[in-house]
Amino acid sequence: MRKGHSAVLAGLGAWLPPRVVDNQELSRRLDTSDEWIRTRTGIRERRIADPDVSTVDMAVHAGGNALRSADSDEVDALVLATATPDHLCPASAPRVASELGLSGIAAFDVNAVCSGFVYALATASGLIAAGAANRVLVIGADVFSRMCDPDDRATYPIFGDGAGAVVLRAGEADEPGAIGPFDLHSAGDLAELLIVPAGGAKQRVAAEPHDYFVTMQGTAVFRHAVARMAESARTVLGELGLAVGDVDRFVGHQANIRILHGAAKQLGLPEERVVANIGSVGNTSAASIPLALADACDDGDLRPGHRVLLAAFGAGLTWGSTVLTWPDVKPG
Ligand code: COA
Repeated sequence: MRKGHSAVLAGLGAWLPPRVVDNQELSRRLDTSDEWIRTRTGIRERRIADPDVSTVDMAVHAGGNALRSADSDEVDALVLATATPDHLCPASAPRVASELGLSGIAAFDVNAVCSGFVYALATASGLIAAGAANRVLVIGADVFSRMCDPDDRATYPIFGDGAGAVVLRAGEADEPGAIGPFDLHSAGDLAELLIVPAGGAKQRVAAEPHDYFVTMQGTAVFRHAVARMAESARTVLGELGLAVGDVDRFVGHQANIRILHGAAKQLGLPEERVVANIGSVGNTSAASIPLALADACDDGDLRPGHRVLLAAFGAGLTWGSTVLTWPDVKPG
């Protein structure tokens, strides 16, 4: 890496819609129970955005908080990770930038679904490494509840809405907050395991209303998520010459507490080092990792100097991971 061209984390922000929907509320209208959802997923409640709140709105809140945390609203690019953009065309990032008063900067969406935040971090790091940007606002925002059939007990209870963001700045590879290396992968032959069949350009109008919602083969997704996150995490640690014992906190995509613990077990990482906020937010897709980072900071569980392993997995399929040492940064 050229001197001064490493991406360094300089700010963190989160935003959740205020409406809390707990498992009891869901079990009043779905054939499910608090006990089933809690024991199979670890989720107690999730946040659901009001109908007039969009991905752009949530991204603006989280992005603004990250800029406050970084103590500067100077950024020259914005990367928005989302699978639920306000429109198929155009991307949502330019609107987010203009609402933050950043009109004119480079702004684009990255869609790697639940791996989106790690993919967006890698993209932003690449902009910095190339000298194309000095400071980048990276936001993960999804309103995934709208992708789920409210009457489908297999998917609706799992997902929640939210947004999280970080500011990356150009710096040195050996300073706290420097991010990398990255390990990123995909398997498009397994796209059918988690897919929204209609609404895109291939099938603009659904044959069945249900085709506008996500369909998921839960057990297969579960197995891939555990194996791929563990495999990818091992790869980045190997590239840095680190052992699993060198990891202080594992911040994996919050899909299911059993997936997080399964990946940690495959890695040989004690459960105490697993950061988990899924109980209160559910699976927030691209927002999940920055929301978990913000919660862990607020709780005092994530502290400056901790070596943090990030790993994500999502539809596509996509997966990836990276490592950083936590800098002296608090959520804004
Ligand atoms: N309440 C009650 N029962 C439910 C239910 C719910 N909310 N959802 C599914 N069930 C039922 C199923 O219909 C099935 O019934 P059957 O045996 O009569 O067919 C039974 O529970 C067991 O289902 P199964 O899919 O085997 O359960 P599981 O232990 O695999 O847990 C998931 C299901 C979805 C929680 C789990 O597979 C999972 O988390 N998968 C990954 C999902 C994910 O993370 N997706 C996003 C990836 S980024």
